[in-house]
Amino acid sequence: MNTFKVAVLISGNGSNLQALIDSFKKEDSDIDINCVISNKKDAFGLERAARASIDNHFVDHTKFKNRETFDQELIQILDGYDPDLIVLAGFMRILSEVFIEKYLGKLINIHPSLLPKYPGLDTHQKVIENNDRLHGVTVHYVDKSLDGGPVCGQSMLEVETTDAEELQNQIHKLEHKLYPHIVSLIAEGKMTFDKGKVIKNT
Ligand code: GRF
Repeated sequence: MNTFKVAVLISGNGSNLQALIDSFKKEDSDIDINCVISNKKDAFGLERAARASIDNHFVDHTKFKNRETFDQELIQILDGYDPDLIVLAGFMRILSEVFIEKYLGKLINIHPSLLPKYPGLDTHQKVIENNDRLHGVTVHYVDKSLDGGPVCGQSMLEVETTDAEELQNQIHKLEHKLYPHIVSLIAEGKMTFDKGKVIKNT
């Protein structure tokens, strides 16, 4: 397999980035995380990238006059790395149509709920308030819908706590397994995106 180049966009802690680094930053890996971008200067994920010797960039969205010009800057940086896949890992910015269309089929996100249930924020709290028995995590291709787009995969658990933080920690553990797994499937060509659908090539 040729090297499969992955760029990761973050805004915060970057525990999902770390899970990807731990999975793929090995000498014999065909997957190369070659770029990390954060819109937050103090994102710990930038330090995780630096420790793993991955090029990392801080792009301050507040310095741009609108969403499109910020996204143009992201595009300019990303295109320098020629990514096969762009992985959103806790990137807390809504992307413009220009960005989404440019990378359609090469752009995935992880969301802490069993989509289509609970798009948006505070998913763990909503699960607890609604006494849901099941909760989970979804990886999906990004299209113009917020937290929509065709689903690559989900993991779930039975809710056994009323503490949102504890639930979040449990969900993180699922995320850290699911995200590298989905990235591997895509890199190996076992999962592809075609005409707005996820195709599993087994
Ligand atoms: C994760 O819960 C992910 O599902 C959501 O943002 C969070 C990022 O966490 N999109 P981390 O920065 O990877 O630790």
